[in-house]
Amino acid sequence: MKIAVAGTGYVGLITGVCLAEMGHDVVCTDIREDKVLLLKSGCAPIYEPGINPMLKKNLDAGRLHFTIDSEFAYKDADIIFIAVGTPENPDGTANLDHVYEAAYTIGLCLNKDSIICTKSTVPVGTNEQIMEIINSVKPVHINTQSVSTPEFLREGSAIYDFFHGDRIIIGTESEEAALLLEQVFLPLKIPIVKTDIRSAEMIKYASNAFLATKISFINEIAAICDKVGANIEEVAYGIGKDRRIGPQFLQAGIGYGGSCFPKDTKALVQIAGNVEHQFELLEAVIKVNNRQQACAVKKAKELFDSIEGMRVAVLGLAFKPDTDDIREAASLTIVKTLLAEGASVIAYDPVAVPNARSVFGNVIEFTADIQTAISGAELVIIATEWDHIKHLPLEKYVQLMRNPVIIDGRNCYSLKDVSKHPITYVSIGRPSHIEEHAQTRSNSAKEGWYDETFTSILPD
Ligand code: UDX
Repeated sequence: MKIAVAGTGYVGLITGVCLAEMGHDVVCTDIREDKVLLLKSGCAPIYEPGINPMLKKNLDAGRLHFTIDSEFAYKDADIIFIAVGTPENPDGTANLDHVYEAAYTIGLCLNKDSIICTKSTVPVGTNEQIMEIINSVKPVHINTQSVSTPEFLREGSAIYDFFHGDRIIIGTESEEAALLLEQVFLPLKIPIVKTDIRSAEMIKYASNAFLATKISFINEIAAICDKVGANIEEVAYGIGKDRRIGPQFLQAGIGYGGSCFPKDTKALVQIAGNVEHQFELLEAVIKVNNRQQACAVKKAKELFDSIEGMRVAVLGLAFKPDTDDIREAASLTIVKTLLAEGASVIAYDPVAVPNARSVFGNVIEFTADIQTAISGAELVIIATEWDHIKHLPLEKYVQLMRNPVIIDGRNCYSLKDVSKHPITYVSIGRPSHIEEHAQTRSNSAKEGWYDETFTSILPD
């Protein structure tokens, strides 16, 4: 099958590379020439386990092409996937400019009958507008059919998810288009759900909203566990054993981040608002998540009178492990709040330092070496559960910090192991282990480099 993909962002790139891996002839197009050149050389602009070898293999096999030439991409395509970004507008709605621009270009370039599939996350009704745009500019003798195929890839395991997803949604009013799409995805042996276009569009938002709700729910229970002396891990295990609830997405922590949950939850609140439905539950989910992202520094302030002048190591910048993506990461809230409180920050991440540097510049120190981050720190805040962090022996904190204090935002260590070390350890929804030294922080540490004018140069 000849397939074109509009957009080489996360979804577009993974879709293009994986469809080529399945044997299809794929042309991916993007308006950014620098990206296209990089991709042509066999290098992915994103960090995603397994992407580079698969990219290179399919380029070498001649099944995968990258171009800025839209006409070359679309003119012979049997199927065109739209996978451009839908960033957030200031009011929380999805910005559809790129989607509509792509639709217009596709319409102008079409040279044969084609199926237009939208993978970008778009509000209900958008696919109809996409088709209106395409139909308004395409040659009259060419037939197009519309399909919504929302994407459920997780960053960090996107290739695995493409080949082993839980379901593939094919939303269309055209039986012919549904059959063709089924043919494409059948070899994956993933259950296919056929539905109408509007329901398919809604399935994507509803899935992400439900998962975000699970996370905020468990974080609420964790906050109560903190106060009543229960342990959230035991609680999550106990409730997750109920098959109606299930064990996944019950990991309490400092909240969800990334390119999807924060954006899609806000967009769904807006979509509901547009039809005069106040989505109160989802509004609360968002509010809880904002509170959760701020809770690590709040816990630090409860522990110490002040963190002004304190040297704080933030371990993990990516919004989750196995990605260099820092969009809406809890680490950003943590670093900004620490700076506003007058702490000095050294941040560690195995891969996300370049992205974080573009946000914070030289305002904080960065390192890709975890021990360098911890050395001499007075407080460690864990923001991402990287294996590098989880596998760091607790002895290292004892060796490298004078009076080790860890606020673990991702519950990386077992309480039993922590109790064997002279470490003050505060986590999420689990009993804390407080050493006496935490309360008697030396005055010298308070004489930091903090300067009153500093907050004025903090990034937003
Ligand atoms: C998500 C959806 O899972 C995916 O189906 C959709 O297509 C895109 O959005 P992604 O953002 O890559 O994928 O990551 P995911 O693994 O879902 O995690 C999202 C956030 O939730 C992360 O910040 C993670 O740390 C947090 N999370 C996840 C929790 O805090 N607790 C959990 O139990 C699970």
